[in-house]
Amino acid sequence: MGIKYQCNDCGKKYDPKKRVLRCTCGGMLNIEDRTLSFLKEEINKNEWSLFRYIKSMPFDSNFSLWKDITMGEGMTGIVPYDNNNPNLLVKMDYMMPTLSFKDRGAAVLIAKAKELGVKKVIQDSSGNAGNAIAAYAKRAGIECEIYVPEGTSAKKIKMISSHGAKVNLVPGTREDTARAALDAVLKGKAFYASHVYNPFFYEGTKTYAYEVLEQLNGDLPETIVVPVGNGTLLLGAYYGFREMLDLGWIDKLPRFIAVQAEGCAPIYEAFIKEETDTKAVVSIETKAEGIAIANPLRGKQILSAIRETGGIVITAPEKEISNARQRLAEKGFYVEATTAATFAGYFDYIKDNPIKGKVLIPLCGAGLKSDK
Ligand SMILES: Cc1ncc(COP(=O)(O)O)c(C=O)c1O
Ligand SMILES: [Zn+2]
Repeated sequence: MGIKYQCNDCGKKYDPKKRVLRCTCGGMLNIEDRTLSFLKEEINKNEWSLFRYIKSMPFDSNFSLWKDITMGEGMTGIVPYDNNNPNLLVKMDYMMPTLSFKDRGAAVLIAKAKELGVKKVIQDSSGNAGNAIAAYAKRAGIECEIYVPEGTSAKKIKMISSHGAKVNLVPGTREDTARAALDAVLKGKAFYASHVYNPFFYEGTKTYAYEVLEQLNGDLPETIVVPVGNGTLLLGAYYGFREMLDLGWIDKLPRFIAVQAEGCAPIYEAFIKEETDTKAVVSIETKAEGIAIANPLRGKQILSAIRETGGIVITAPEKEISNARQRLAEKGFYVEATTAATFAGYFDYIKDNPIKGKVLIPLCGAGLKSDK
């Protein structure tokens, strides 16, 4: 039996073993709608990784190989930004085995690939997702090939190859890289471990939400600020909170503020024009390489999730990114520019729009990995 994929647009279902990437109608694939049975008491409190929430994940009940794959990812701390701002909380998601929040999605997606008997994966990334997939694939004994844009940080490339993955440098834009990976998947027999296409990735990033509830003893922040490129953290967090709402664990969703780079903001553009889907934009060079996605394939879902929470989309002023990075470093947090961009956007927004109540912002990626 096993869990199915389901088209976001027409509802058609597919068996993940068939390795279909998109629906015949062109729609993106989600995990099929299902009624989750998960009691708070069923959180495995003896498991110090995000697999403590395995009961919420689409694995067969006797599946245990994740134990060979996990590196203790997740369970990142939540601390105040500083003692002058007790209502501004940060979640330390760069404290992961491969130094970014992408470990959440990669650990679960690779565990699922193992369950499905996959021998080789292909993935494309601006860096962090590739680092994470390469590390977990190696640990799972799965061969791995990662496609990255030519300008990717040298440290990220070194890290991917150190995990034994083949690195393919692709000239041109991030979209050219995605196309090259997709072509390779279509030609060969590898499983596409894409954080954009493959919905199992979101089953990992959703643990962000479960952790927030557990760590804050149910006292959820009113506002969650999230950087958005392809939306893997935003959609994952949304699925997590949505599930907890359906399970009756919470009584309302926190409001999402999505942050995009000023020079590459298709979700922002669609949001302010009150459109339901995104249109590809021409991207201008930005320091926030992790969120510079000109054509987010899950744009429709991202817009709908933000609107459902009563949220908004803002942009990060490019000239403020370096300042924000330095401000964070002076608080003790050495993060990469993409994370600094989230704060640049937030600080800029609150100048004219003070926010009441608790705000939570993730520190998504570690500074030492990036050259920018
Ligand atoms: C550090 C960091 N933050 C945020 C993001 C944005 O994630 P997404 O593209 O899934 O929205 C990325 C993506 O690579 C990233 O590396
Ligand atoms: Zn469809």
